[in-house]
Amino acid sequence: MMSCFLIFSLLLASSASFAFASDPSPLQDFCVADPNSPVLVNGVVCKDPKLVQADDFLFRGLNLMRNTSNDVGSNVTAVTVAQLPGLNTFGISMARIDFAPMGINPPHTHPRATEILTVIEGRILVGFVTSNPENRLITRVLEKGDVFVFPEGLIHFQKNLGHGYALALAALSSQNPGVITIANAVFGSNADIPADVLAKAFQTNINVVYQIQSKF
Ligand SMILES: *[C@@H]1O[C@H](CO)[C@@H](O)[C@H](O)[C@H]1NC(C)=O
Ligand SMILES: *[C@@H]1O[C@H](CO)[C@@H](O)[C@H](O)[C@H]1NC(C)=O
Repeated sequence: MMSCFLIFSLLLASSASFAFASDPSPLQDFCVADPNSPVLVNGVVCKDPKLVQADDFLFRGLNLMRNTSNDVGSNVTAVTVAQLPGLNTFGISMARIDFAPMGINPPHTHPRATEILTVIEGRILVGFVTSNPENRLITRVLEKGDVFVFPEGLIHFQKNLGHGYALALAALSSQNPGVITIANAVFGSNADIPADVLAKAFQTNINVVYQIQSKF
């Protein structure tokens, strides 16, 4: 019993010393997510392979334009393991991004994925910012058919430059890329980050911080 525990601890310690930047590789043909399992693992528990159906590998409706009448003028339809159980363990997912005229997909980051974006319709300004200390903005105007890559973890954004609707499709290198929208995380956290901390961090007046916090 004791030695079992020792081996387990050693295994845990050794696996913890590896840092994988992306989702781990699958060890079987598929592991369709069973969202109802109470077991907690890194990923989602597999459904019994004998019970797996074709529909577990299917998501429908990505042809549909989404409603962009909101504060930012964009709408992201994610197809991750939460919407498509068959994605579990495959290290891949996608999204449809609709833009109203002049709409933006606000600065955000995916903690677990690199993103490759294709413009299907419209003209889109894109950019990402490199990490400290350079914080260099890498930016470009994309036309229909252009493909652009946002490196894993870096803050990036998109803006529709056209007078019509724009559409992009994104592929991401994780079944569960995660999204951290900078404005929401910094000014709309639950509970609030103390305003004096943000005032100092943003080198501004505390009332400016309160004003921004009130919008999130
Ligand atoms: C995105 O569009 C769907 C359907 O068009 C709508 O139900 C949803 O509220 C929209 N999301 C946002 C953030 O506007
Ligand atoms: C889009 O969303 C807005 C705001 O929620 C709503 O007023 C409008 O009716 C929606 N449009 C459609 C076509 O559903």
